[in-house]
Amino acid sequence: MSVSTPTNTSPDAATIAVVRSVDELRQWVAGQRAEGAGIGLVPTMGALHEGHLSLVELAACDGYAVVMSIFVNPTQFGPSEDFDAYPRDEARDLELAEASGVACVFAPPPSEIYPEGFSTNISISGPSGGLEGAARPSHFDGVATVVAKLLLAVRPDRAVFGAKDAQQLAVIRRLVTDLHLDDLDLVEAPTIREADGLAMSSRNRYLGDEDRRAALALSRGLFAATALADAGETRASALVGAARNELDLEPRCDVEYVALVDAEHFTSIDRLTTRSARLCMAARVGPARLIDNVPLTASP
Ligand code: PAJ
Repeated sequence: MSVSTPTNTSPDAATIAVVRSVDELRQWVAGQRAEGAGIGLVPTMGALHEGHLSLVELAACDGYAVVMSIFVNPTQFGPSEDFDAYPRDEARDLELAEASGVACVFAPPPSEIYPEGFSTNISISGPSGGLEGAARPSHFDGVATVVAKLLLAVRPDRAVFGAKDAQQLAVIRRLVTDLHLDDLDLVEAPTIREADGLAMSSRNRYLGDEDRRAALALSRGLFAATALADAGETRASALVGAARNELDLEPRCDVEYVALVDAEHFTSIDRLTTRSARLCMAARVGPARLIDNVPLTASP
């Protein structure tokens, strides 16, 4: 990996810029814009995996220059959550980011994002009410605040978020509309899974062998419900029941919720229709709290 510095003169070396302040970030973006490049933004908390890298690929379409932010945002973690334990490995992240085509990593210290005296927080309701919002009070306010700050710092043409965090995506859609940030293209990236079905997540690193095996109950449940929906089942009770059954069969899985929701409002629905829906779940498996979901619509 080579980080762009004045001493890096090799013409063939791909260079990734690493910036720590919003001032430097804005200068870098202005330089790209002066050369006519569009800007794609991929916000992350690091501990990168193929799911994150698939977002980079979408952000880079049409030759856009990709900015990736790497910031473990303290305000979206509850007091008893895993902020301190959250995996951090910047050197590895920078290598992966560079290899996947990121042009600039914005990796600020917390004091850059939340300097002394910081007093503005976004309070978001609507799609943030249930599921993750109910389980993690103030989580989505923290997400909305940091995402708004990133969007305003970069002013990208495109920002990419994963369907893995479907409720987060619904919240960000709302935020972007409500704050008139909708001159950007908000792109939804499909969930990337391991070969055995487990949705990739930075938190999978918390899983030991037994828990890693037990965690497959989540995707098994979602695939069971998908198969039922494909066979024509539309009742939420049956779809949720099929998914929940797989989780209940796994003693190491402690289920928090399984719910069928409207994909835009994230409110429960009784039946699948032609509107987009999501079957969402959260479960604790050993030390990890895992979430997963699949898109569902009534089969024609
Ligand atoms: P993080 O969990 O690092 O995820 C960064 C982005 O990667 C999110 O848009 C997430 O949905 C996406 N992602 C994670 N796992 C994925 C997978 N298996 N397939 C596809 N995409 C995946 O989400 C956050 O960080 C933070 O809340 C953030 C938006 C950066 C705000 O702090």
